[in-house]
Amino acid sequence: MTPVPRWVGGACVGTFLVLAGVFAVDLIGKGPGLDELPPLKPEHYDPATVRKVPSAMMFDGAPCSSCHEGLEPNTGNPKERGVFHEAKKLQHGRNQHCFNCHHRADPTHFADFDGAPIKLADVQLLCAKCHGTTFRDWKNGSHGRRTGHWDLAKGGPRTTVCIACHDPHWPVFKAIEAAPGPHVNPRARERS
Ligand code: HEC
Ligand code: HEC
Ligand code: HEC
Ligand code: HEC
Repeated sequence: MTPVPRWVGGACVGTFLVLAGVFAVDLIGKGPGLDELPPLKPEHYDPATVRKVPSAMMFDGAPCSSCHEGLEPNTGNPKERGVFHEAKKLQHGRNQHCFNCHHRADPTHFADFDGAPIKLADVQLLCAKCHGTTFRDWKNGSHGRRTGHWDLAKGGPRTTVCIACHDPHWPVFKAIEAAPGPHVNPRARERS
C-alpha cells in the first residue's frame, strides 16, 4: 500500500478552514433575511378563555330580582320574551325556550328537569341535563381545558366551566381570526 502523501492532510485542514470561514461570514447564503411581520395582536397570545364567567346573575348591571320580584312567573312562550330581553339572540339548535334553562319562578337560578334550582356556580349541571356525554368527557378531562397540577399537594387540576367557552345562548363558536403564520425565511420559500 502506498503511503498517503503529506500534502493531503494539509489540503484537508485547509479546506476545512476555508469552509469554516465561508459559513462563519455566511458568504453563500447572503439573502434578503427574515420577513418583517407586524407584532402579534394581544388576543393571539392571550391565554384567557373566550368568555368571562359572570360571578352573579346580572342584567345590564341590575340584579334579576330588581324587575322580576313580584312579576308573575312567565308562562314562557318563547315568542314573547318581554321588551327587555328582546336583544337576546338564542341560537341553540332546537333548544329555543328560555325556561329549558332558566328557572321559571326564580331568574337567578336555572332549572333541572324536575324543577329543582341549579346555581350559577353549578352551571355545568344545567348543561349536563342535555349534553350528558360531553359532560362526562368534561368531568374526565377530555373536553374543555385542564390547567393546574397533577400533584394534588400542589392544588390539583383545575377545570374550566362550560360557559367560559360556550355562550349559553349561542354555544357554537363564532369565527375567530387566525394568528398569522410563523416567520419564514424568504430564501427557503423561493426554493419550494
Ligand atoms: C330591567 C328589568 C329586568 C331585569 C333586570 C331582568 N329582567 Fe328578565 N324580564 C323582564 C321583563 C319585563 C320580562 C317579561 C316578563 C313578562 O312578560 O311577564 C322578562 C322576562 C324574562 C324571561 C322570560 C322570557 C320569556 O320568553 O318569557 C327570562 C328567562 C328572564 N327574564 C330572565 C332574566 C334573568 C336571568 C335576569 C337576571 C340576569 C333578568 N331576566 C333580569 C325584565 C327584566
Ligand atoms: C341553554 C340554556 C339557556 C337558555 C335556553 C337561555 N339562557 Fe339565558 N342564560 C343562561 C346561562 C347559563 C346564563 C348565565 C351565564 C352567562 O351569561 O354566561 C344566562 C344568562 C342570561 C341573562 C343574564 C346575562 C345576560 O346575558 O344579560 C339573561 C337576561 C338571560 N339569560 C335571558 C334569557 C332569555 C330571555 C332566554 C330566552 C330567549 C334565555 N336566557 C335562554 C342559559 C340559558
Ligand atoms: C334543554 C336541553 C339543553 C340544555 C340545558 C343545553 N343544551 Fe346545548 N344543545 C341542545 C340542543 C337540542 C342542541 C342542538 C343539537 C343539534 O342541533 O344537533 C344543542 C347544541 C349545543 C351545542 C352545539 C353542538 C353542535 O354540535 O353544534 C353546544 C356547544 C351546546 N349545546 C352547549 C351547551 C352548553 C354549554 C350548555 C349549558 C350552558 C347547554 N348546551 C345546555 C340542548 C340543550
Ligand atoms: C376550554 C373551552 C371549552 C370548555 C370549558 C367546554 N367546551 Fe365544549 N367545546 C369546545 C370546543 C373548542 C368545541 C368544538 C367546537 C367546534 O368544533 O366548533 C366544543 C364542542 C362542544 C359540543 C359539540 C359536540 C362535541 O362534543 O364536539 C358540545 C355539545 C359542548 N362542547 C358542550 C360543552 C359542555 C356541556 C361543557 C361543560 C361541561 C363544555 N362544552 C366545556 C370548548 C369547550
